[in-house]
Amino acid sequence: MRLYNRGMIIAGIVVFLIVTTFPFWYGRGKAVPPPDLKLDTPAILGLKEKRCVEPASYMRSSHMKLLVTWRDDVVREGKRTYTATDGRLHEISLTGSCLACHSNKKQFCDRCHDYSGAKPACWSCHIIPEEVR
Ligand code: HEC
Ligand code: HEC
Ligand code: HEC
Repeated sequence: MRLYNRGMIIAGIVVFLIVTTFPFWYGRGKAVPPPDLKLDTPAILGLKEKRCVEPASYMRSSHMKLLVTWRDDVVREGKRTYTATDGRLHEISLTGSCLACHSNKKQFCDRCHDYSGAKPACWSCHIIPEEVR
């Protein structure tokens, strides 16, 4: 039997490298841009100061933790008012607070969750107010 020739082996290695590194170079230059979150709901446009319950950077990284704390406050402690770190008071309510300001759930919450692959399953029980915009 004849030995495989050098050309064949090199071609094989090249094909192997292209296939195994494909995921690394294919996406270059066309990474999916982060979604454009729409903050301009009537409730938010009407605010004197464009502030969330807590600072935006904290909300971006930790709103899920805040929501769990809120749920426990209501369900376990019967506590329905949240005192934010800046002293403002907020009703503890997913529908009545978060979605009162962020009334465009599709363009705000969902757009970011779709992008990041998060699938919060809250809406079988919690009401989504009719989208204002
Ligand atoms: C199986 C039904 C169910 C699901 C699913 C569910 N909840 Fe709730 N949640 C409740 C009930 C019942 C209450 C108590 C309502 C009350 O006493 O006002 C509550 C209360 C809350 C509260 C405080 C009160 C309010 O009106 O918002 C928060 C915040 C909350 N849940 C967050 C969440 C989040 C976030 C999710 C998804 C990750 C979720 N819940 C999924 C049933 C559910
Ligand atoms: C009083 C109106 C109001 C309420 C209530 C409110 N938000 Fe916000 N939210 C805002 C505003 C305004 C911003 C933009 C703040 C900024 O850019 O500094 C924001 C920003 C955010 C962001 C960051 C978005 C980004 O830029 O990446 C998240 C996430 C968020 N909110 C989630 C929530 C959740 C979850 C709740 C309920 C626990 C909530 N918000 C309640 C008004 C509100
Ligand atoms: C800036 C992007 C962004 C925005 C805007 C955003 N989320 Fe999220 N959310 C995430 C990410 C990312 C996760 C997943 C975090 C993880 O898996 O640790 C998440 C997770 C959650 C969870 C926990 C899911 C679970 O099953 O544990 C809830 C509840 C939630 N988001 C509610 C909301 C609500 C309500 C809004 C709109 C008011 C909102 N989020 C807006 C990025 C966002």
